Amino acid sequence: MKRTMFKPIHRRGFAATLAGLALLAGTALPSFAQPAPVKAELTVRASQPGPTIAPEIYGQFAEHLGRSIYEGLWVGPDSSIPNTRGLRNDVVDALKKMKVPVLRWPGGCFADEYNWRDGVGPRAERPVRVNTTWGGVGEDNAFGTHEFFDLVEMLGTKAYVNGNLGTGTPREMAEWIEYMTSDTKSTLAEERRKNGRDKPWKLDYFGVGNETWGCGGGMRPEYAADLHRHYVTFVRKAGGRNGPQEFASGSNDKDYNFTEVMMREAGKAMDGLTLHYYTLPTGDWKKKGPATGFNEDQWISTLSRTLQMETIIKGHAAAMDKYDPQKRVGMIIDEWGTWYDVEPGTNPGFLYQQNTLRDALVAAVNFHIFQQHADRVKMTNIAQMVNVLQAMILTDKEKMLLTPTYHVFEMFNVHQGAAYIPVDIKAPDYSHAGFTVPAVHAGASRDASGTLHLTLANLDPNRPASVSAKLEGASARKISGRVLTGPAMDTRNSFDQPHQIQPVAFNGAKGRGDSLTIDLPAKSVVVLTIE
Ligand code: AHR
Repeated sequence: MKRTMFKPIHRRGFAATLAGLALLAGTALPSFAQPAPVKAELTVRASQPGPTIAPEIYGQFAEHLGRSIYEGLWVGPDSSIPNTRGLRNDVVDALKKMKVPVLRWPGGCFADEYNWRDGVGPRAERPVRVNTTWGGVGEDNAFGTHEFFDLVEMLGTKAYVNGNLGTGTPREMAEWIEYMTSDTKSTLAEERRKNGRDKPWKLDYFGVGNETWGCGGGMRPEYAADLHRHYVTFVRKAGGRNGPQEFASGSNDKDYNFTEVMMREAGKAMDGLTLHYYTLPTGDWKKKGPATGFNEDQWISTLSRTLQMETIIKGHAAAMDKYDPQKRVGMIIDEWGTWYDVEPGTNPGFLYQQNTLRDALVAAVNFHIFQQHADRVKMTNIAQMVNVLQAMILTDKEKMLLTPTYHVFEMFNVHQGAAYIPVDIKAPDYSHAGFTVPAVHAGASRDASGTLHLTLANLDPNRPASVSAKLEGASARKISGRVLTGPAMDTRNSFDQPHQIQPVAFNGAKGRGDSLTIDLPAKSVVVLTIE
């Protein structure tokens, strides 16, 4: 789909929009079949700015899993794929454009089996281990601490390193931190220098373990809390005054008790507490549902389960508030996103899945929810950045494509570091197959220059939405926007057609002063800049 294709369609209104989209899909709609737009109302309360939206809410996660690190990010300096010191140029350039505020590494479940010593020193001498969690494949440790920080510095992002609580010792954890951050003449700092890095790196965040309740050790929260207190004591000593913020490994889904116990027993010994929540179309881990070729039942069930994020955040926030009413401890949602059945024919241990317009809607809805809780949610990391789960980028040897999720991250990056602006929404329900979700979802922010950014999603795959927006405490002189949509619920990019879905100019917002009307196509995500 070419960039210009949607432009004239939006100028001609909904009927033409739908006809245009139907033609693109190869299924011309008879004129009587064109659904009327649903009506929604928004009030953008620009006069009531809330907390700053931490840029880290738009964070990423890259694990030693499948083709995430190897092939996706790292091809090695001798590869025919253009690279800089082994990191592929096309992927790094695309990520830079998207704006990555923080990158979590090396896992995930992998982190609790990782010994940092395996990944430093001459590459040819690094040991080969078995990645027991993810496919039982050989891990040659070509990508280690130095390569990670090279990537971090290329992207201009913050570093979030996840330590090994499951099988490592407190000494191992403390020594890794010393190796990364010490400016002294200690043996470990000298070893780092010998390995090519003179100055210490800036280690912004350190995770003490991952999923302690599961792959990280199968612990009860009481034990996990004690173990956190034990390990973090040495992490803090090693980091000293310029050490990283420390995160404790927290809960999953709706296990509010885990959060409660961690906060009660170890709340004073952490800067952040993590939380994981994945969106499965069916809610069934044995048969999650396909990434493409799904029907409307799974479109709406996926969005409905995405909206659960609101309930989940509120539940964990309430448990945190009990012990930390000042909200000193950040909620760190360091794994979220869609998890589908793997692409047919791929290694089940590699978690490779396609990414469609549905994933774009999932990302948009999650961001709006995270932003509404910007007082507590200080970081999130989508799982994962390249070639795994709800990825930004997919690669196939020298080919690369940007997914619909990438585009939403890029469109929404205007919210990073801006002030949260509350939005009241009156939207009709969209119901199907026993699920009901609001047809329209929205979020807003105001940046340092005073520009207002409004993002909207139309969750209804069949009907456009006509949105009347009132700006309270702001006035529109100039509006510009972009829209991401496509003819089918599973519109996606492929290696043969990598530009099928990408944002295009949006002309569906009209108005001046404090009143706007916004014509959202069915199943779309829109970003508006209001000056
Ligand atoms: O993101 C994939 C895996 O999901 C992570 O390794 C683990 O922490 C979670 O269960």
